[in-house]
Amino acid sequence: NGRVLILGIETSCDETAAAVVADGREILSNVVSSQVEIHRRFGGVVPEVASRKHLEMLNPVIDLALKGAGVSLGDLDAVAVTQGPGLLGSLLVGLMVAKSLAFVLRLPLIAVHHIRAHVYANFLAHPRVNFPFVALVVSGGHTDLIYATSHSDFRLIGRTKDDAAGEAFDKVARFLGLGYPGGPAIERKARQGDPTAFPLPRLHTSGDFDTSFSGLKTAVIYRWRQAQERGEKVRVEDVAASFQATVVEILEEKAFAAVRAFKVPTLLLAGGVAANGHLRERFATRAQAEGVKLLLPPPVLCTDNAAMVAAAAYYQFLRGDFAPLTVSADAGLPL
Ligand code: KG4
Ligand code: ZN
Repeated sequence: NGRVLILGIETSCDETAAAVVADGREILSNVVSSQVEIHRRFGGVVPEVASRKHLEMLNPVIDLALKGAGVSLGDLDAVAVTQGPGLLGSLLVGLMVAKSLAFVLRLPLIAVHHIRAHVYANFLAHPRVNFPFVALVVSGGHTDLIYATSHSDFRLIGRTKDDAAGEAFDKVARFLGLGYPGGPAIERKARQGDPTAFPLPRLHTSGDFDTSFSGLKTAVIYRWRQAQERGEKVRVEDVAASFQATVVEILEEKAFAAVRAFKVPTLLLAGGVAANGHLRERFATRAQAEGVKLLLPPPVLCTDNAAMVAAAAYYQFLRGDFAPLTVSADAGLPL
């Protein structure tokens, strides 16, 4: 048949993932082996441990992805892999395996940008995604606002000046003793909390599309300690709810300001933090009020996976954007 089958490989952080996607749209398999349990006892991702685990898991994960898709290596049309940004040692494992497969199978190798891949989760989830759009990618390492006019024209219009949104969730959760990863832990606590019971400062937002979360994190810590000293009773649930609401408010302001400034009809959300239920609700309500078309992937496609890598790679495949076997990992790969 004429379908383009791409094997995607993702090892940029702490998930070892492989997937087979047909024509950039149909997920035939999507295997994710999470290292969360391993890193939990350290309270965060330990890079050296992550790369060793990728090395151990990647081949079995690829096998599972091929079996799950009901295809063999000989059926593939290309091998796609995350080139960066991410943890260098982790990226290297994925690249090494992808290069070996491409070399042995004589297939084109496609090097994919991790943040672009997050955006393409939406192309898997929705039958039509029309350009131009603004995309907000909120993950553990990035808070990027992107203006895209075509598959080959993605422009970074805003980023975080300090911590990423997910990083702020993780750090505040750690401070509150809620464990790792922090995003889901804070979301769970926040459900029982009152977002007005622990008021946080509405921080000054600059006129651009950049964000900043480190001041907010400091405010949570400072106010928490202040309350302890004064002997005030503070519920962790209220802190979580207030912090979550403030982060979402900041993201909402920036994203919808970008939609207005670039006069686009569509806003895409992506990245691990886009799995947050409160964020999804708030964005949906605001989008409806402003007449903006909001697209967001289901939560499983928000967090790191390889189906999104294969989906992004499909459009690179169509325009012959292949990587030489000498391509190297780039921890700080620009968009
Ligand atoms: O995209 P992702 O899986 O990996 C990176 O590329 O970083 O994002 C991981 C980040 C972590 O910081 C995690 O705490 C956050 O996404 N996250 C969430 C939720 N689920 C994951 N943040 C808020 N609410 C969630 N439900
Ligand atoms: Zn990611």
